[in-house]
Amino acid sequence: MPPRIFVPRDAGALAVGAEAVARALRAGVERRGVAVEIVRTGSRGLYWLEPMLEVETAAGRIAYGPVQAGDVEPLLEAGLLAGGEHALRLGVPEEIPFLKRQTRLTFARCGLVDPLSLEDYAAQGGWRGLSRALAANPTEIVETVVRSGLRGRGGAGFPTGIKWRTALEAAGARKFVVCNADEGDSGTFADRMLMEGDPFSLIEGMAIAGIAIGAAEGYVYIRSEYPHAIEVMRSAIALARRAGCLGRTVLGSPHAFDLEVRVGAGAYVCGEETALLESLEGRRGQVRARPPLPAHRGLFGCPTIVNNVLSLAAVPFILAEGAAAYADLGFGRSRGTMPIQLAGNVRRGGLFETAFGLTLGELVDEVAGGTASGRPVRAVQVGGPLGAYFPRALFDTPFDYEAFAARDGLIGHGGVVIFDDSVDMARQARFAMEFCALESCGKCTPCRIGSIRGTEVIDRLLRGEGDRAGQLALIADLCETLKFGSLCALGGFTPYPVMSAIRHFPEDFEASRGAVAAR
Ligand SMILES: Cc1cc2nc3c(=O)[nH]c(=O)nc-3n(C[C@H](O)[C@H](O)[C@H](O)COP(=O)(O)O)c2cc1C
Ligand code: SF4
Repeated sequence: MPPRIFVPRDAGALAVGAEAVARALRAGVERRGVAVEIVRTGSRGLYWLEPMLEVETAAGRIAYGPVQAGDVEPLLEAGLLAGGEHALRLGVPEEIPFLKRQTRLTFARCGLVDPLSLEDYAAQGGWRGLSRALAANPTEIVETVVRSGLRGRGGAGFPTGIKWRTALEAAGARKFVVCNADEGDSGTFADRMLMEGDPFSLIEGMAIAGIAIGAAEGYVYIRSEYPHAIEVMRSAIALARRAGCLGRTVLGSPHAFDLEVRVGAGAYVCGEETALLESLEGRRGQVRARPPLPAHRGLFGCPTIVNNVLSLAAVPFILAEGAAAYADLGFGRSRGTMPIQLAGNVRRGGLFETAFGLTLGELVDEVAGGTASGRPVRAVQVGGPLGAYFPRALFDTPFDYEAFAARDGLIGHGGVVIFDDSVDMARQARFAMEFCALESCGKCTPCRIGSIRGTEVIDRLLRGEGDRAGQLALIADLCETLKFGSLCALGGFTPYPVMSAIRHFPEDFEASRGAVAAR
């Protein structure tokens, strides 16, 4: 067998030149008349080292990065194919501290395998969870997921097994499994990375969900900004169908389950599950009032579970290894692992999957290595655009749903966006209000009108108009109305970034006076 070189084709790696590296590599080995197999993989998630390529040697895989096309010739000259020495040589990938410190369950195969190789998937433990599910009855599958303690990774942290139980018990001749791959949160990319790097794990998770609740059809709703993920998912579904892993007789069983990809409508609110269902049905993405719950009456009025990519992709491991193998990891009521995404002004940005419980400070200072600018970290926004800003004083908060909630924050989809000391927190607060105004679906008044009034009040404050204490009281009052009067979390959680900025960084609401007028 010719030696193998692994080059990622994940969108994050492509953005920094992975395609040119693959081309240069192909040309270089052809010129030398050497037979080499170039395998395109997902990313390991060490984005500051992308494009990172790996060579299979007698001593295992050896990584090099970040490699540019112009580095390929010198690398080949230095004996790349045998793992030769070079300034870009990183050594055994699993020994790189960022990777070594992780517990990879959901992302175990990502970056290792060819995402569209069914052989690779099966060789790395794929379809074992689905086989177990097919040998069990629906209640046993659902109760296994309940016992695992898995909570939704899309933002709300709702127990996945309880949602499945509700859909299983709901009466309906037709039911649906919907995967929420709208991934709109700032600084997040785990869904994309998983779909591009290990799409069969999501397909397997959705098939298990279908068998558990009695659904024969599923949709993956992917944001339109993810063309590579859309392409990989479509190809993977076609391959899985051809191999009998999807279709009328899943893995040769009497169970039917099939999937289709739907491309998102391009609004942040389309990630909210009921707006997503509206969009899937061909209407404008507007939030539905609850009840009924989607698990009772969802897509086309049928019982439907909507789950995030990461929730569904965690399920094959749980079925294959047992609920305890997952539940044994974690902290408090946050069980298992969380794929955390480190982004923003960050030295080592990427995907870090770990058991819950690491503190925010450990993540920011030790794992991420602080800022890319080298300046001190001043604020960290956790949980997307609706998440709170945490100052260094709160860096002892463990990564855990309840611990963040206790400090008026949320972990959401696991996005951690780092800011250095040049950040203007008043501007960030204004941005949060403006974001809510721009993305509001318009269904309820506090969000539709309140967010615009909120932006205006912050502008007045920053221009130094009126009395400062009065303006701040007005913002706090407005945030109360948004929090308790909004129909969904877009309006309901906008107070988190706004009020945390005011509470933890009050000096910026003095210093920035006039900033808006000046811009
Ligand atoms: C404004 C808004 C945007 C959301 N965007 C997403 C999203 O992009 N992806 C996601 O999985 N969940 C998103 N959610 C959460 C979903 O409504 C829902 O809770 C989730 O898809 C359920 O899956 P889970 O239980 O597996 O987390 C959003 C919620 C709101 C209010
Ligand atoms: S809070 Fe905003 S986005 Fe949510 S339903 Fe109300 S108007 Fe729509």
